[in-house]
Amino acid sequence: MCGIVGYVGQKTTMDVLLGGLKRQEYRGYDSAGVALITEDGLIASAKKSGKLQALVDEVTAHPLAPGHTGIGHTRWATHGAPSDVNAHPHVVDGGKLAMIHNGIIENFAEIREEMLEAGHTFLSETDTEVGAVLLGHLVEQTGDFRTGFAQAVNRFQGAFTVLAIHQDAPNVILAARHNSPLVIGFGDGENFLGSDVAAFVEHTHRAAAVGQDQMVEITPEHVRVTDFAGTPVPIDEFEIAWDASASDKGGWPSFMAKEITENPDAVANTVRGRVVDGRVEIPELSGLGEDAIRKFSRIILVACGTASYAGQVGAYAIEQWARIPVEVQLSHEFRYRDPVITPETLVVSISQSGETMDTLMAVRYAMERGAKTVSICNTQGATIPRESDAIVYTHAGPEVAVASTKAFVAQITALYLLGLQFAQVRGTLDDTAIARNIAELQALPGKLEEVLTTGPEIRQLAKWMSDTPAVLFLGRHVGFPIALEGALKLKELAYIHAEGFAAGELKHGPIALIDHGQPVFVVVPSPRESAEIHSKVVSNIQEIRARGARVIAIAEAGDAAVLPYADEVIRIPLAGPFFEPILAVVPLQIFAMELADAKGLDVDQPRNLAKSVTVE
Ligand code: M6R
Repeated sequence: MCGIVGYVGQKTTMDVLLGGLKRQEYRGYDSAGVALITEDGLIASAKKSGKLQALVDEVTAHPLAPGHTGIGHTRWATHGAPSDVNAHPHVVDGGKLAMIHNGIIENFAEIREEMLEAGHTFLSETDTEVGAVLLGHLVEQTGDFRTGFAQAVNRFQGAFTVLAIHQDAPNVILAARHNSPLVIGFGDGENFLGSDVAAFVEHTHRAAAVGQDQMVEITPEHVRVTDFAGTPVPIDEFEIAWDASASDKGGWPSFMAKEITENPDAVANTVRGRVVDGRVEIPELSGLGEDAIRKFSRIILVACGTASYAGQVGAYAIEQWARIPVEVQLSHEFRYRDPVITPETLVVSISQSGETMDTLMAVRYAMERGAKTVSICNTQGATIPRESDAIVYTHAGPEVAVASTKAFVAQITALYLLGLQFAQVRGTLDDTAIARNIAELQALPGKLEEVLTTGPEIRQLAKWMSDTPAVLFLGRHVGFPIALEGALKLKELAYIHAEGFAAGELKHGPIALIDHGQPVFVVVPSPRESAEIHSKVVSNIQEIRARGARVIAIAEAGDAAVLPYADEVIRIPLAGPFFEPILAVVPLQIFAMELADAKGLDVDQPRNLAKSVTVE
């Protein structure tokens, strides 16, 4: 999971490459590098371990000669520690060829042996250098960059997107992909390549996704796509819906701060155009057919991390509304349990990036066994939606901070829309109930705006708690996955031990963790809408308070029952039982961000993480 950019054209190549890397730094940020073919026809390169800024500083202090063909890479290390030498590009063949790579070349050991026998040497510990050396070797043997490239990619196994430049072909970038993403950007007298459209959206809105096992050649004048045998394949161009400025910080201190404030828009834009005459109509689902929707006997939601918690929230609603059993499976566990899949099984994947390898493999597995698949995704042209039977895009806009925030609320929104449409088709909710739930969805953006006003109060709380070693989160029903999400946000951003529990599970073990002063966030259900579980959660609060917990309750406006037992109460506006969690998660997002900030941590790029996890 690295970020890749390629450019051929008349602009200042270094600016295009660094801009593309900046917008893709969320994909990996332990080292970065660039290579270009200079106006003298030579390859020049620079690479540095550390964040992109280290590379920027390097090329500012020691500028490369100008050129019009270049490739750039931001790395999330797999083979070989993050270091200057392991960073990409790898320049081989006496400095004539440079290559960058996203993924893992699984047969690198065998290729390495072969190359050592042929007399080649290696500088780094990476699988990528092995691939580059093989490529250089084959180019030398065949005497042709294109032929050697095609032969090399046919040898690679595993997951890879590779981009290569050669000084004998000064206006050409060759690229290939297998199980890793690659998109093309079309310009006027210039063309681009990227891991995703963010790489070039500031220059062009015309794009096409490169299909599985395809190779691409770009020059300033043309783009040619073939399969791995060299047979041309058609290019399916699309218009990028994102505005370039949407992937800038826009004056906010961090992408995460900006993206949390975009929660209301993420919901509004995901609902927009999908409610017609008081009914939910997701045109993208029409391909499934109403008959199939009536016949589905089971829905399996597959996702990882935050997306899986969105799935857990959605599962409660879809099952209740559409009366179909719904279960949530972590994508990486799904295939290995030999799940029962029939033609009446619908597998819905949830993925912000649309590139998460675990989820992609789960989708492919489900399709091979005859399930219908729907992709809930935030990234146009990504692999998972392209391979699924139907796509419901969340319109949250680009999410750059590694920790997911606005995409989470957009995913829940999309799942609710799907649940309501299925309920309409299956006749399991009457018109009044449909209308009530639609009204709740449409009211959410305004209520989310209100929740955002709690920011200063939460910042203060986070400052007080900045040296806390552990935080617990409790919730019940749809509040349970919100507790899990609150804990995940705190772990990944503030590096604090955090656990989420179902409040009812407390007395089955976790209550032993409660000691004097232990902070516990409790997502309190509505006393109006969920009276029964509300009183049970209030009892849970009393139980932990009696054992010394410091309770921070997230409760709806006017809920007085929590006041005697909570040390702090964060108020959220009134909403229906399925809709309160979407409001309750926002204070938890803000808390994690503020606490990380109070600890002086980088909230956009937490250690060890990358946003798109494109390896298994
Ligand atoms: O792109 P995806 O939605 O498939 O990503 C899934 C998870 O990797 C992602 O949600 C991860 O858990 C985030 N770091 C959460 O903030």
